[in-house]
Amino acid sequence: MTRDIAITAQGVSKSFRNGKATIDVVRNLDITVDAGAFTLIKGPSGCGKSTLLAILAGLTSPDKGKVELGDTAIWSLSARKRDAFRLKNMGFIFQGSILLPSLKAHEQISFVLQQMGVPRGEAYSRACQALCDVGLEDRIDLLPSALSGGEKQRVSVACALAKKPRVIFADEPTSALDGENGERVSSKLRDLAQQKGVAVVCVTHDERLTPFADRILQMEDGRFLTSQEEKKSHA
Ligand SMILES: Nc1ncnc2c1ncn2[C@@H]1O[C@H](COP(=O)(O)OP(=O)(O)OP(=O)(O)O)[C@@H](O)[C@H]1O
Ligand SMILES: [Mg+2]
Repeated sequence: MTRDIAITAQGVSKSFRNGKATIDVVRNLDITVDAGAFTLIKGPSGCGKSTLLAILAGLTSPDKGKVELGDTAIWSLSARKRDAFRLKNMGFIFQGSILLPSLKAHEQISFVLQQMGVPRGEAYSRACQALCDVGLEDRIDLLPSALSGGEKQRVSVACALAKKPRVIFADEPTSALDGENGERVSSKLRDLAQQKGVAVVCVTHDERLTPFADRILQMEDGRFLTSQEEKKSHA
């Protein structure tokens, strides 16, 4: 079987200084992520999951190593080109995603789409469709101040969906969601991978996501515990 590889990272390391001490947070780590698969990275708090995700997403620079999305080495791009590449190719769902206080739910999304060059009318309809997909059809015209924490999180999920990116990076995407909405978001991410060929990379503690993953990597102390092919949860 041939693999359609979306992301390749090799020899990635990252340390942070804490006073005189240096903490090695990501240690000489290799990973390949397939297009069309939902890859889940699990591991204890502080093991480096969010740092790794931010390195793969072009947000935190590695001290060493290479990250390629398709054939683009993202850490060789200028900051401006990397920003443009991210906007076009990646969707993000992060813990405590920030929404702009003065924009309604649909505007949060259509604003991003218009930055990508999507015409206004199409941006509006894609925003509304994505909000429906995450169960927010009756929250389309509300400002963030009128949304609950879980609803705000779903707006950021909808934004990632509406971009139709090649890769979605998700950091604890279900943390603020109840059972029904957690399941809705998890199955949406799996469907995007399986039906649209998106590479979904998700880090989490939430066991509820496990059944939706095509592949699970266990991280500890800045490394993957075993081989990357540790587990396939379903065919
Ligand atoms: N900018 C930073 N400066 C200093 N230390 C940092 C920085 N970012 C992360 N760290 C440290 O790196 C370690 C790994 O952090 P990271 O956020 O990647 O862990 P995590 O696996 O995502 O944890 P959690 O499951 O709690 O979200 C932690 O000890 C954290 O304190
Ligand atoms: Mg984290």
